[in-house]
Amino acid sequence: MKLMVIGSGGREHAVIRKLKENPDVETIYALPGNGGIAADAVCVDVGAKDIDGAVRFAKEHAIDFAVVTPDDPLVLGMVDALEAAGVPCFGPAKNAAVIEGSKVFSKNLMKKYGIPTAAYEVFDDAAAALAYVQTAPVPIVVKADGLALGKGVLIAQTHEEAIEAVKSIMEDKKFGASGDQIVVEEFLTGPEVSVLAFTDGKTVKPMVSSMDHKRAHDNDEGLNTGGMGTVAPNPYYTEDVARVCMDTIFQPTIAAMAAEGRPFKGCLYFGLMLTPDGPKVIEYNCRFGDPETQVVLPLMESDLLTAMMACRNGTLAETEVRFAAKHACCVIMASSGYPEHYEKGYEITRDEGVAAQVYVAGAKLEGEKLLTSGGRVLGVTAVAASLPAAIDAAYADVEKIHFGNAYFRHDIGARALKALED
Ligand code: AMP
Ligand code: GLY
Repeated sequence: MKLMVIGSGGREHAVIRKLKENPDVETIYALPGNGGIAADAVCVDVGAKDIDGAVRFAKEHAIDFAVVTPDDPLVLGMVDALEAAGVPCFGPAKNAAVIEGSKVFSKNLMKKYGIPTAAYEVFDDAAAALAYVQTAPVPIVVKADGLALGKGVLIAQTHEEAIEAVKSIMEDKKFGASGDQIVVEEFLTGPEVSVLAFTDGKTVKPMVSSMDHKRAHDNDEGLNTGGMGTVAPNPYYTEDVARVCMDTIFQPTIAAMAAEGRPFKGCLYFGLMLTPDGPKVIEYNCRFGDPETQVVLPLMESDLLTAMMACRNGTLAETEVRFAAKHACCVIMASSGYPEHYEKGYEITRDEGVAAQVYVAGAKLEGEKLLTSGGRVLGVTAVAASLPAAIDAAYADVEKIHFGNAYFRHDIGARALKALED
């Protein structure tokens, strides 16, 4: 089979490596991929948001199955366009991807169907929003409605910060049209858990849970980033919690989307907070998480392509989805200064004996050399029988990989270890 994977990050690299384990896969094209992905797939110079380019390429190369991974092309309707052209796809249609594309949509969905989430108000008028946040209890959370590169969530500790947040999103248009509407919501507390789930619109099969580390620096200090590392499984996500989430969140969400005439097929990402009142939804993403995928897929024992095709064909109930009872840790090696300003163009080298999976997020090839080209450069994932062993193995391999201005957190998994001890 000939496959096509849309996207260019570490998540896409992990998806491609896993898909290659299926012996029926002959060729994988990555649109556009990156310099590291080029070792595992044929990189094609078509941008991830170029719907016409993707359709043209798929038809010219008789692609058998396409995997659309990033949020932008999903929200723009790339799956609809490919399917209309006769290319079977993994990923939600545009009318289902809105679950990530509009926070107003997802909050209203949860309210209508009684799915637990933070209490909220929606505003499309800055004056009304400003009046509201002046007296609402703080801390309070202000969210731009649309996609904002994961940066559209502002947590205000004071009324002044809340006013600034509303102004920056609605008046200064910091996130463009994504801020035409905002959600202002109650501040929740508790451990966070990411759960990625396969779904064919009727059946939902959760993958192993994971824990992201969003802040740039050790001890969860510094700016929010796309994610500096992950571990799986997440020790807070016990079997009891999993059962509650299945009954009160996962199945009700799939049923709600179907009832709305928007059946969700693909990977639905549940961003959960385990509050003192039970698990609540912080956010939905219409796709695999990055860098959650880099710890979840290495633990998957059953075949990824089979599960993806079952999601598309409506046969997930009969399809096995199985994960190893092991632990994974992914440490992101970034360019120092990320998520703000950073230098790039440094050569990436590695010593002998790296045993971990190294997923490339931001690098380009120059001749034989791999050069850094992004904020997040590599994800180094180790799998082991225990969490401490996975953490140690990942960090041992990080020490064997070198590039100019390399930066990484030293405490990925520390919070999870502490939870295991408590
Ligand atoms: P998001 O970009 O939606 O993943 O949000 C970024 C982060 O903001 C989340 O991972 C949470 O840590 C935090 N967050 C979002 N909504 C809330 C909330 N209602 N209460 C507390 N923290 C929140
Ligand atoms: N790691 C969070 C996300 O993919 O949105």
